[in-house]
Amino acid sequence: TGRTAAQVSVPAAVRDSAFLRACRREPVPHTPVWFMRQAGRSLPEYRKVREGVPMLESCMRPDLVTEITLQPVRRHGVDAAIFFSDIVVPLKAIGVDLDIKPGVGPVVAEPVRTRADLERLRPLDASDVPYVTEAIGMLTAELGSTPLIGFAGAPFTLASYLIEGGPSRTYENTKAMMYGDPELWADLVDRLSVITSAFLRVQIEAGASAVQLFDSWAGALAPADYRRYVMPASRKVFDSVAGYDVPRIHFGVGTGELLGLMGEAGADVVGVDWRVPLDEAARRVGPGKALQGNLDPTVLFAPREAVRAKTDEVLAAAAGLEGHVFNLGHGVMPTTDPDALTHLVEYVHERSAR
Ligand code: CP3
Repeated sequence: TGRTAAQVSVPAAVRDSAFLRACRREPVPHTPVWFMRQAGRSLPEYRKVREGVPMLESCMRPDLVTEITLQPVRRHGVDAAIFFSDIVVPLKAIGVDLDIKPGVGPVVAEPVRTRADLERLRPLDASDVPYVTEAIGMLTAELGSTPLIGFAGAPFTLASYLIEGGPSRTYENTKAMMYGDPELWADLVDRLSVITSAFLRVQIEAGASAVQLFDSWAGALAPADYRRYVMPASRKVFDSVAGYDVPRIHFGVGTGELLGLMGEAGADVVGVDWRVPLDEAARRVGPGKALQGNLDPTVLFAPREAVRAKTDEVLAAAAGLEGHVFNLGHGVMPTTDPDALTHLVEYVHERSAR
């Protein structure tokens, strides 16, 4: 957009929110809490506004994006909003033929397998996603002092959808390219890092006050392979937004063995799933970074007393951390009772009040 990072500024009241203070490892009045996938199918008001509108189309309508992003803030009183979109939106925006199939996830019509296929992955700029800039403008006006988290898919996770053609449990084609043609793989994830960086910058310049890079499926990799084949591209993404006054969060599922490297890639806040307690995660990540997590999302199906006990365990493990953002260890499951989430927000605030 021609603006420099220094010209993008976060309003003082937003900057002073508990969420952004925790990301910066500053003292907070209470532990801030938000939920991955808080905007979505667990809410009846979401299902209502989405009726008859395909997922990707809803991401391109600023009125719907604004309404859906605000719904969990209104209902649960969470400490941050997350922009309603999807990790495949920037790929769709540059012309990749893909769709999000209900109950399945992203499906790519022609998987990326050869060097010629890379030509389909041209760089993205703000004019490819005008609806993102417009929606974030509307949102920051409505959100007041509540921060808005922008997000994108990390190169590895995006590559896995492009190469497999859809969701996978084994990532066999992805790994076949990674190990079999490392040069093609490196070029692919490099192109994706350029697209992802631009998508994050568009969101920051429009008013997002934090960003989260989802490398949801990186946990499929051994640390040595993560370091060699994935970290350089993710680092490039983090470096590209380092000049903004906006914390960078990095999250993946089953990444216990990768937590140190995911921090090293350039994150200010490392997201942790429920498999590693936060005190142990802090040892793996090392000093100088905040942590986000990590209540098992399925705990919300248990009775309230059990939810409280498990929440106390998370807060106790986080007691010695420099910065803690409470979250689930992965996204809200669609069948979760919304009242359980509202109660959890209240409980975290109450138990952590200083
Ligand atoms: O509330 C929020 O977190 C913001 C919205 C958001 C969505 N997708 C909306 C969505 C975010 C942050 C994402 C990220 C995303 N998308 C990830 C990373 C997060 C994670 O869970 O690890 C991934 C891997 C995707 C790809 C994707 N898109 C999947 C796996 C699915 C679910 C498929 C299904 O139906 O089970 C989607 C679709 C999707 N993205 C939905 C929503 C609300 C459901 C679509 C619908 O409501 O019809």
